[in-house]
Amino acid sequence: MSKRKILVTSALPYANGSIHLGHLVEYIQTDIWVRFQKMQGHEVYYVCADDTHGTPIMLRAEKEGITPEALIVRVQKEHERDFAGFHVEFDNYYTTHSPETRHYSEDIYGKLKTAGLITSRAVEQFYDPVKQMFLPDRFIKGECPKCGAKDQYGDNCEACGAAYAPTDLKNPYSAVSGAVPIKKASEHFFFKLSDSRCVDFLRAWTTSGTLQTEAANKMREWLGEADENKLSDWDISRDAPYFGFEIPDAPGKYFYVWLDAPVGYMGSFRKLCDDKGIDFDEFWRKDSTAELYHFIGKDILYFHALFWPAMLENAGYRTPTNIYAHGFLTVNGEKMSKSRGTFITAESYLQQGLNPEWLRYYYAAKLNATMEDIDLNLEDFTARVNSDLVGKYVNIASRCLGFITKRFNGKLGKMTDGDIGWLRQVKGQELPESFNAAWTRPEIEVAASAVSRSLSAKDKKEISNDESVVIASRKTIEQLYDNREFGKATRAIMQLVDTANVYVDREKPWELANDPAKSQRLHEVCTTAINMFRALTIFLKPVLPATAEKIEQLLNTPKLDWSHLETDFHENHEINPYSHLITRIDPKQIAALVEVSTASLKPTAPQPHSQQRHAQHQENIVETTTQPATISIDNFSKIDLRVARIVNAELVEGADKLLKLTLDIGTEQRTVFAGIKSAYDPEKLKGRLTVMVANLAPRKMKFGLSEGMVLAAGDGNGLYLLGPDEGAQPGMRIK
Ligand code: MSP
Ligand code: ZN
Repeated sequence: MSKRKILVTSALPYANGSIHLGHLVEYIQTDIWVRFQKMQGHEVYYVCADDTHGTPIMLRAEKEGITPEALIVRVQKEHERDFAGFHVEFDNYYTTHSPETRHYSEDIYGKLKTAGLITSRAVEQFYDPVKQMFLPDRFIKGECPKCGAKDQYGDNCEACGAAYAPTDLKNPYSAVSGAVPIKKASEHFFFKLSDSRCVDFLRAWTTSGTLQTEAANKMREWLGEADENKLSDWDISRDAPYFGFEIPDAPGKYFYVWLDAPVGYMGSFRKLCDDKGIDFDEFWRKDSTAELYHFIGKDILYFHALFWPAMLENAGYRTPTNIYAHGFLTVNGEKMSKSRGTFITAESYLQQGLNPEWLRYYYAAKLNATMEDIDLNLEDFTARVNSDLVGKYVNIASRCLGFITKRFNGKLGKMTDGDIGWLRQVKGQELPESFNAAWTRPEIEVAASAVSRSLSAKDKKEISNDESVVIASRKTIEQLYDNREFGKATRAIMQLVDTANVYVDREKPWELANDPAKSQRLHEVCTTAINMFRALTIFLKPVLPATAEKIEQLLNTPKLDWSHLETDFHENHEINPYSHLITRIDPKQIAALVEVSTASLKPTAPQPHSQQRHAQHQENIVETTTQPATISIDNFSKIDLRVARIVNAELVEGADKLLKLTLDIGTEQRTVFAGIKSAYDPEKLKGRLTVMVANLAPRKMKFGLSEGMVLAAGDGNGLYLLGPDEGAQPGMRIK
């Protein structure tokens, strides 16, 4: 096997909020993948940092009466403590407010400028005349232009869901000083993303076939068709006062936080290279053969898949090998919520004495390689951890280890050929033809024969796409880990754990122990079970690093890595007496955690739902949508579905997919642009009843305002408009 050189990053958390269970989805996912790759013997570096610049951090420091520098030092310590608490092990954790990040930001900016990709123009923005600063969208509030709700943010209304620009707000005021903002122009710098050098490069890069399907689709949507250019230039400067890096030769202008944030990946790695004597250029030069992966949440795909590769490419650096975007965490099927006590910080989880590996295991069991959201269902969490980890995995050791200590002086014995057959199955190894069928479980035999075909790259792909196939073998487990299909990997490992338990149940060491004549068999069985337990520990070690370490001490073995699957303990190997490994979750602990999370609300904690996350990123980035997890009836009933009569339908000039529909919903008529031209002749639609979403925020389109949406079924091949049964009247609510 050739040794790969791999540099891995997770997104850099903002320095103005605490790490919560949502963030941990990402850091745990990345950490598991990194640990797995390291166990394979590859050269892997995992770096991260705090994302420290921007207006919110500046204002928060001011509120606390400290400097931004002091604030970010304190928060970085808290973040590092939280990550360590969940066994997330970085090779370097740094800050974007570093000389290295400044260096590469200036370097990249300078190269883009030389290439003619930086331009400037005046931009008119809201300005706080009292505070004397320009206001990002999230710091402008006012009345919703649609429903009149008070105190709404500058980009959308929480009361009615309408989306708009901050300039549309009625009676706007500055959330910083309360003053009425004025409009003021200032010079801004732009990265010319619309330049054909960027567009052509991005088109090629995003269709090169490695991106996740959903990400590639998003990119296609953002880039548009080959003859369109949907990308606009990107505003990369902000005016003083700002906490960040001042732009060279532009006094009073600062790099916008999102320019230097991804450069922070380079900065953190540079620091590691300088500390450890690693060759930085080998990983970053244009023709580098090292691999570079960014793990991120779906909300920041735009920054990582468009801006960042375009910056790197045009500044003469290598681009990412891949970007791995994950979905968002929901708790009990809903967004994390302070009032429900499901907005849980890393700190409070640990302070309540909950085991971080419970969460690591549960997330692993839920994670896959897509951008789907993942749900932490607290009941399922308790049940799954208790059953898999305590009831099945640890149970193997707790039923066998004691006998070795009490009866055999802590020394292991021999195994029979039959035992070795079982052990091989638990290791997910191929069984030689000569193996006696009596030594195998029938269902395992099937899996084993499937495994004996060596898996090609094509199989590898199929495994990760097909829900039903999980063949528990060492090879499939390796491939599932490598493909970030951790849910399937844990299921496959649990199949092997089940096999080990079948063996122990069948051999019944507790009965053998009652008959002195069967002492040798007892020794063989416990020896086999301990070798099984060792192999299973190797498989689970990327997920459960701390437990694996305890087990290494218990079994008196050096650090386990993947190659140890090829060996077993020698006869007479001495182990230490059994001690407790993982306790069960008591549902009371979960109830207590929810309770303190409801009680200890700090007003400054971040609120990571998607609307405010928009604001948090300070820009209207395109929302990514994915398959939601389960939703509550409350969520469903927020959708106002109505029976609508299509009173008119016509073609839209210049649009290849759209029809313009006029819909009657009893009380009023609405215009909706629907992408159904491929399937319907407009004439035949007139007079028909269909179903519409009546409370969708109106959307400005090139052709006019679209005031809702009609519903149709489709799988990419056909398209079928929905219609109610006979008797339904326009305007009737669908529930
Ligand atoms: N600072 C930016 C990233 C800059 S990367 C050059 C940022 N910070 S963040 O603190 O808001 O989020 C850090 C990471 O955590 C992001 O990848 C984000 O998607 C992820 N998550 C934050 N909340 C999350 C959930 N509720 N669920 C899953 N992941 C979430 O974005
Ligand atoms: Zn509103």
